[in-house]
Amino acid sequence: MTVNYYKLGVVGAGAMGRGIAQIAAQAGSEVLLLDSFDGAAERGREAILAQWQKLHEKGKLDADRRDALGARLHAVGSVQDLAGCDLVIEAVVEDLGVKRALFRELEGVVAPTATLATNTSSLSVTAIAAGLARPERLAGFHFFNPVPLMKVVEVIAGFKTAAEVCKQLAGYAVQMGHSAVQAQDTPGFIVNHAGRGYGTEALRIVGEGVTDFATIDRILKDQAGFRLGPFELMDLTALDVSHPVMESIYHQYFEEPRYRPSVITAQRLAAGALGRKTGEGFYRYADGVMQQAPEAPAPAVDTLPPVWVSPRAARRPELLRLVHTLGAQLESGATPSSAALIVVAPLGFDVTTVAAVERLDATRTIGIDMMVDDAATKRRVIATNPATRRDMRDAAHALFARDGKAVSVIRDSGGFVTQRVVGTIVNIAADMCQQRVCSPADLETAVKLGLGYPQGPLAMGDLYGPTNMLEVLFNLQTVYGDPRYRPSPWLRRRGALGLSLMHEEE
Ligand SMILES: NC(=O)c1ccc[n+]([C@@H]2O[C@H](COP(=O)([O-])OP(=O)(O)OC[C@H]3O[C@@H](n4cnc5c(N)ncnc54)[C@H](O)[C@@H]3O)[C@@H](O)[C@H]2O)c1
Repeated sequence: MTVNYYKLGVVGAGAMGRGIAQIAAQAGSEVLLLDSFDGAAERGREAILAQWQKLHEKGKLDADRRDALGARLHAVGSVQDLAGCDLVIEAVVEDLGVKRALFRELEGVVAPTATLATNTSSLSVTAIAAGLARPERLAGFHFFNPVPLMKVVEVIAGFKTAAEVCKQLAGYAVQMGHSAVQAQDTPGFIVNHAGRGYGTEALRIVGEGVTDFATIDRILKDQAGFRLGPFELMDLTALDVSHPVMESIYHQYFEEPRYRPSVITAQRLAAGALGRKTGEGFYRYADGVMQQAPEAPAPAVDTLPPVWVSPRAARRPELLRLVHTLGAQLESGATPSSAALIVVAPLGFDVTTVAAVERLDATRTIGIDMMVDDAATKRRVIATNPATRRDMRDAAHALFARDGKAVSVIRDSGGFVTQRVVGTIVNIAADMCQQRVCSPADLETAVKLGLGYPQGPLAMGDLYGPTNMLEVLFNLQTVYGDPRYRPSPWLRRRGALGLSLMHEEE
């Protein structure tokens, strides 16, 4: 096999350096592993050999290939030993001073034609390269943990990085079996930037007292198809990792409200409730198993009131069919009778605003989230407003649970849960395209492979409709008066023109 880089140095034999060294050897390069901590490079080499042995025992790697890979991997003791490398990737501690000093030293050792790459996840590639004699040969090469399984790498051009350097690295990533995506040198690059919406918006919903963590997790898994709810995910990554990332990206973007972190995670971090690894996070863990209370069943209601559906409800024909199928008596008058349960289905607005604007009796009004097709969702979400009577809330809960579908009842919230969280994710992704952080196609690839979302965020926006997404965000901004929800020009224009969010100008 022809490889872009025959001899490759990896500096830092921790979690990331080991993974990178492993897949680089698998791609056909000779790999030299270096670590400043005594014995760490050799231990790293042994750990990689053990990985190959495991693959061999599983029948995924034959003995000849295992031995050939082992012969290609060497632990070395000093920067001088990297003299013959045509690519050196650093995966040392996340410290600008340490990385800059390392590259300055490397510059005096490797050939003038050699490429230098940094695996930094939060520092500026431009800042790391500044002060080098040849900053054009340094690029970001950002892998994800665990490297052999997370099959995407971000190739980041610093201010002075030569285009050819990025092209070569992207080609090499493919030889390693990874997808390469190209990013501008901006805080969080692609994956850590696009991932801002999910957790922060879920935290805002909890912070408003709309509902609890577990309900939000259930809703986002059942309605929007996420594999893990945002709170399960934060428990997995641990708050000592995720809260500082939230703060760092927020501050690096000069307090952009779209990325605003939450006092909830700051306080839990201070309390040491970090997640799975401490046995307590948003959930409790016993022997590594998440403890979760069962959901309360729908209340038993003997006689359902007649139902009146607002003429402005989203997906009104579907909603009418649903209410009819569930066996309720539908009212057809222009206004509800004095006994009716009043059902509204807003996009972005809260139930209170709709009841006030449409002059409905708020004590009998509930909302249902109809942004997601009822046939496609495993859960219905209904919201009360502060004036809703208990008997009306129970009647709505019983009605919408009649066919056995799960129902979550939440307090009033602009855009319920799914509209708010999906809207925030889509809006951040749209603005990344607007800022040319990366191409729409690379954004989708990076998020699917790096975050495991069910669709890329732009495809998610297209699925629910760019115009609907725009309406959700405009109305969220009206309800909350928070610039966090202002629609990105990318979304505003595509939503207004009825274009796909993937659409690029000619
Ligand atoms: N862990 C992740 O999930 C992840 C994901 C993407 C990127 N990163 C980035 O990768 C880099 C490494 O992260 P990690 O999780 O592997 O860290 P780690 O702590 O597991 O490993 C770092 C290794 O670098 C060595 N080291 C420190 N300074 C050195 C120097 N000057 N010269 C040689 N070796 C030195 C340490 O002895 C240690 O073995 C960081 O920049 C981090 O931000 C980490």
